[in-house]
Amino acid sequence: MLVGEAPGADEDRIGKPFVGVSGQLLDKILGSIGLSRTGENADDSVYISNILNWRPPGNRTPAPGEIDVSLPFIERHIQLVKPDVLILCGGVSAKALLGRVDGITKLRKMWHSYSPQTAELRSESSEIKALATFHPSYLLRTPAHKREAWADMLLLKQGIKQTIKGDNIT
Ligand code: URA
Repeated sequence: MLVGEAPGADEDRIGKPFVGVSGQLLDKILGSIGLSRTGENADDSVYISNILNWRPPGNRTPAPGEIDVSLPFIERHIQLVKPDVLILCGGVSAKALLGRVDGITKLRKMWHSYSPQTAELRSESSEIKALATFHPSYLLRTPAHKREAWADMLLLKQGIKQTIKGDNIT
């Protein structure tokens, strides 16, 4: 399962996540390691959602209060989907779901253990391995970071393989 930031104008109009330009890049990035939204098997399928369910006016960064009220919903969503691994797409998603203040540059490149911060969900949830990576909108603005995003995808691919085999991701 991949969690982005918030719907943009295209997503707001169509009602689906990542259907605009950044979504096209996201599909290419996921496709580079054999993943897609419509994969044949659970092992190569990515379910996508966002931290916020609405578009912040003018595409501004979600405000802390918006993230706080959205967190229980996305955490329950994750609990229902029960993904093998989580891809935290961009700094807003990574910080919110990992409960960290560090930026994406610090949080990427390593596996984290996600567990919900929402108290009511804690007893019924087991930890999920989570990998943070750059948001495709950021990569569209700074393509030089695509090389690092590729390194994240290789790490993701390896982690998915290990999870499928039943090994612990280290
Ligand atoms: N950016 C996001 O974070 N999510 C979307 O659905 C679209 C753009």
